[in-house]
Amino acid sequence: MGISMGPVGRPWRFDLALAGDRAVPMRIRIGRAIVREIQRGRLAPGSMLPGSRTLCAQLKVNRKVVVAAIADLASQGWLEPLPARGTRVAVDLPSFPVADVESPRRSAGAVLERGRSWLAVSDGIPDSRIAPIDELARAGRRALLALRRSALGYGDPAGDPALREILAGFVNQARGLSSTADEVVITRGSQGALSLFALAMLRPGDAVAVESPGYSPAWRAFESLAGARVVHVPVDAHGLCTDALEAQAERLRGRLKAVYVTPHHQYPTTVAMSPERRMHLGRLAERRDFFIIEDDYDYEYHFEGSPLLPLSAAPDLSRRCIYVASLSKLIAPAVRLGYVIADPSVVARLRQARDTLDRQGDVILERSLAELFEDGVVQRHARRARRIYGERRRHLIEELRSSPALRDRFDCTPSSGGLALWVRLRRGAVESLVDDARAAGVILTPGSSHLPSGRLAAFRFGFAAHTLEELTRLCRVLEATGRQDGQPAGRRSSRSPPSRRS
Ligand SMILES: Cc1ncc(COP(=O)(O)O)c(C=O)c1O
Repeated sequence: MGISMGPVGRPWRFDLALAGDRAVPMRIRIGRAIVREIQRGRLAPGSMLPGSRTLCAQLKVNRKVVVAAIADLASQGWLEPLPARGTRVAVDLPSFPVADVESPRRSAGAVLERGRSWLAVSDGIPDSRIAPIDELARAGRRALLALRRSALGYGDPAGDPALREILAGFVNQARGLSSTADEVVITRGSQGALSLFALAMLRPGDAVAVESPGYSPAWRAFESLAGARVVHVPVDAHGLCTDALEAQAERLRGRLKAVYVTPHHQYPTTVAMSPERRMHLGRLAERRDFFIIEDDYDYEYHFEGSPLLPLSAAPDLSRRCIYVASLSKLIAPAVRLGYVIADPSVVARLRQARDTLDRQGDVILERSLAELFEDGVVQRHARRARRIYGERRRHLIEELRSSPALRDRFDCTPSSGGLALWVRLRRGAVESLVDDARAAGVILTPGSSHLPSGRLAAFRFGFAAHTLEELTRLCRVLEATGRQDGQPAGRRSSRSPPSRRS
């Protein structure tokens, strides 16, 4: 017990093809074949190898030969015998270059080496090390056993009624909305909510305005699921430029069906949309008859002053607003639970789309979370997380401000909340920074990846998922990248065009 089984406990059936020179001893040919399957990812680290009896029957060789080949690979670190259980592929494999492993942070075309320790600068995800996972596991077990006695059949496509009631109460109390359970649809994360909106409410040729730079998974949902046309509107220090939006709405003449915004902490720049822009957006939505999709993905994390209430909290706007939220930042992205709050006429269409798509959500997860909210576990976790992340945020800001080399190279005006800082390069291309950081074992996503095209000399520096030591280490790496060409940072020539406004 306690041994990680890796991604595959025991393959159903694993055919091992022997290639190569028949003159090579069978023991070596078997060893090479196994290593080849490990290298091409078919046998993943931690997965169980077929038993030696199975292999010898399959390869029609003496079992002693197979056992010897396995022993060779174990002594070289490829395989690991587990007493009384069999043999698994080692979790820490011998180092070898992997040509097609993608960076966990989507850094374009990254080729990572196994056997080297990588640290990825987070985009702003929470720290799963502090998430209430034990509580969730226990609640999950209780939910499943309780459901066995009552309802393991199909349920409401809008989600578990008890959780909808709880979520409505939660956003009413904590975020100033005035919703009812009937206006809530539970989804698989915010992405599920955006996808349902696209399927239920958009038609090919409809236009959806989005922030630029912005959250590209939302663009993809509108474009690829509904065939909608995504129109990019610039963002500045006050959030979405509503004058530019107005001009677009004029040009689109009634085809603009929705505007997708992240007003609380704009993604990726973290700026809060100003009250004036919010009012202008509301007036435009009324006049031009479009929906406002408000993605409020990290409302909990506000560290200075008090946050503005969501647009959806304004009574005169609630009919137009599609409020989208998620537990990805509050608990963890792997807990796929989000929700939409909208007018009942929209909810009816979302419910229908959900029924068509996959009937309903994960009722066990929904019941488990209802229990964690009811018992105050989520609320306690939010308080603790806010305290820990606040400390990490202060630490990162202090690191960026106290180092002359970092101050000289980077410009960062921290927003009052969110789980990331938006760091701009005062000069140079972010792509070069990404390359230099990678050479030092750090993966960084360039700001340009949040644009439809073009360059943006900035990056998101998420702090919540990193300990204070990790943040310090990341800052030392960034400092070192600035010194790499041997010149003082201030005298290096620019390697990029001027950065765009954001
Ligand atoms: C702008 C934005 N919206 C929503 C989310 C959460 O998405 P999901 O709930 O699908 O995990 C994120 C997470 O990174 C985000 O950055």
